[in-house]
Amino acid sequence: MNTSNLDSLYRPKSIAVVGASNTPGKIGFTVVDNLIKSGFEGKIFPINPKDAEVQGLKAYASVLAVPEEIDAAVIVVPASMAEQVTEDCGKKGVKALIVIASGFSEVGNRELEDRVVAIAKRYNMRILGPNIVGTLSNSDKMNASFAPFLPFAGKAALISQSGALLIAIDASTYIRGIGFDKLISIGNMSDVDFADTIAWLDNDDSTSCVTLYIEGFKDGRKFMEVARKAHKPIIALKSGVSAHGAAAAASHTGSLAGAAKVYGAAFQQCGVVQAADLDNLFDRTLALSLQPQMRGDNLLIITNGGGVGVLATDAAEHCGLPLKFAPAEVQAELKKHMPEFGSAKNPVDLTGMAGRDWYTDSLRYAIAHPWVDGIAVLYCETSLTDPVDIAHGIKQALDEAGIKDKPVTVSFVGGEKSLEATRWLINNGIPCYGAPDLAVNALSALREYDRMRAALAEPETPAPAADRSRAMEIIKLARMDGRDALTEVEAKQVFLAYGLPVTSTHLAKSEDEAVELAKKIGFPIVMKIVSPDILHKSDAGGVKVNLKDEAGVREAYRTIITNAKAYKADANIHGIAIQEMAPWGTEVILGSVNDATFGPTMMFGLGGIFVEVLKDVTFRVAPVSAGEASRMLGEIRGAPILAGARGEKPRDRKALADIICRYSAMILDLADEIGESDANPVLVYEDGKGAKVVDARIILKKK
Ligand code: ACO
Repeated sequence: MNTSNLDSLYRPKSIAVVGASNTPGKIGFTVVDNLIKSGFEGKIFPINPKDAEVQGLKAYASVLAVPEEIDAAVIVVPASMAEQVTEDCGKKGVKALIVIASGFSEVGNRELEDRVVAIAKRYNMRILGPNIVGTLSNSDKMNASFAPFLPFAGKAALISQSGALLIAIDASTYIRGIGFDKLISIGNMSDVDFADTIAWLDNDDSTSCVTLYIEGFKDGRKFMEVARKAHKPIIALKSGVSAHGAAAAASHTGSLAGAAKVYGAAFQQCGVVQAADLDNLFDRTLALSLQPQMRGDNLLIITNGGGVGVLATDAAEHCGLPLKFAPAEVQAELKKHMPEFGSAKNPVDLTGMAGRDWYTDSLRYAIAHPWVDGIAVLYCETSLTDPVDIAHGIKQALDEAGIKDKPVTVSFVGGEKSLEATRWLINNGIPCYGAPDLAVNALSALREYDRMRAALAEPETPAPAADRSRAMEIIKLARMDGRDALTEVEAKQVFLAYGLPVTSTHLAKSEDEAVELAKKIGFPIVMKIVSPDILHKSDAGGVKVNLKDEAGVREAYRTIITNAKAYKADANIHGIAIQEMAPWGTEVILGSVNDATFGPTMMFGLGGIFVEVLKDVTFRVAPVSAGEASRMLGEIRGAPILAGARGEKPRDRKALADIICRYSAMILDLADEIGESDANPVLVYEDGKGAKVVDARIILKKK
């Protein structure tokens, strides 16, 4: 991560506009106009070779003619001139370029982009873009963009990979009443990227939360490193997660969009809250920019309507914050602020008769109670009460309670008056939404953030002991053999070098050797064909199980070889694997891919039909810590099976988590070698009895 010169980029004291124009409608006109209209207090230097003055400001033929220092230059001349103006800016000592011009890598012109970056690097100049709208900052009164105006003021900072979306968001902040201090268009990320910008924003006093619209990272691990260290909430919407969407994103930005599951896993591992869609991004941003994280699961709902209370209760369960009844003492106190027919359980139903006092008194008491971790206050507009008055009551209660470390969100459902109250609450730092589920979802974002931060504070899991050179020896031999797939016997040896509990497996090259090995391992045994040309061993009749004696082994040896030859006459047969026959247990699958954005990434799920039909799997970027491994076990839909469903004893989840950690260490350590791998099935036994990797596959990276 590189934050050098980002002060000059994001908080410049002087700006040159290269391509400034007097012709309305041109971007070079709009940028100068926007800088003036936004009240930029630094110097503005229009650069135009023909005009001595642009929009009332003295203009210069080149940045080199400007007699003062220039922090940042906005580039609004066509891409064909980019090299020349970058060179001039470098010579002038400009510290950062905001390259609005399009026509670079996003349309396949990577060479030009690389050349411009190389020039900038020579002068230690940073580049934002190219192919961007520009950058806007309320606290700096700076609209260095062609977006129409500064956004509705607030404390969030948006970094958007789509320029058009940024412009649309800019205007919509006023409709939604969600405040941003900065809007940053990041474009092609030829130099400055998400990670650099987040690192800078983390030290920016005007930013309380960072909001991301992402199409694709170039370096996922760099992002994760910065996000992990960030002190402010980060919330992300990743687009291009469907197969079709991914293709659209790639052609739009010139960067490849990664798979949804891998991004999701990475976000979770580095403490980034995810948004499901654009509305959700705004709603969650509002909460994260205004409220503290929610430090426990005890959510209290206070409402004047049963209907919205039930909707909020449903939403709470959906968001992973199922409601619990409030303790008796809390109920007893709350009962004092409602009519006889109200309910103090949870949701706390003050009834339609609730006026300002009941809301204020209940909220003031509840927020201060140690059992309560967060509150959603719901209000349905009635003719008995004035929404704005209720809003004032909510604020009054929170001010009087003085509790700053618990979040409160609000939902007002109603008409114009409710809208007015909503705006008033937001302006006073209390997130307010038009529907009860939104208020609950916002709280769940604050809870997710807290959970992820707590996970990040867990002690690191030390890398397990491993025999890397043994693993490399096996891989080297396979490569020398011209193969990019290891045989099962080889793959298990690699697994073994990383301490994975594989079934004892040895290669027999003759019938006699098979018998000898079977006796050594102990009956019953399993026999499998070993041939790089036969990947689907069972289909080829290449697997025999439960062989109990020498005669069985001899017969199986002959049958397997005959079957294999019949399946593929020219198959290169290494021999037959003689394996310990593991007792049956719960089948799970582990696997890995070498993701283009995040590198070695692993998958876990229940095996068999669960993985094939239900795709009940979860991912993490390697390495996987002990804490993350046990969270993986808990987050698949089939988790109750591992926990011991229907009277079954719980499975050995500790052993399984350890296997996940070791597996992830292996794929990370051998990242240059392993392309894909899987352990399928892994059989998990009851608590204390461990697990066994029964089959293993490793596909090497092509070199
Ligand atoms: N130095 C300074 N100014 C110069 C130079 C120079 N060396 N050479 C020419 N100029 C002046 C031109 O004379 C002109 O000024 P004028 O109006 O007084 O004649 C001005 O610079 C602009 O040059 P033009 O050739 O007129 O370029 P134009 O304004 O048509 O387009 C632009 C330039 C906007 C950079 C265009 O090439 C472009 O890339 N547009 C796309 C921008 C964009 O969409 N960015 C991505 C946003 S993301 C999204 O999806 C919304």
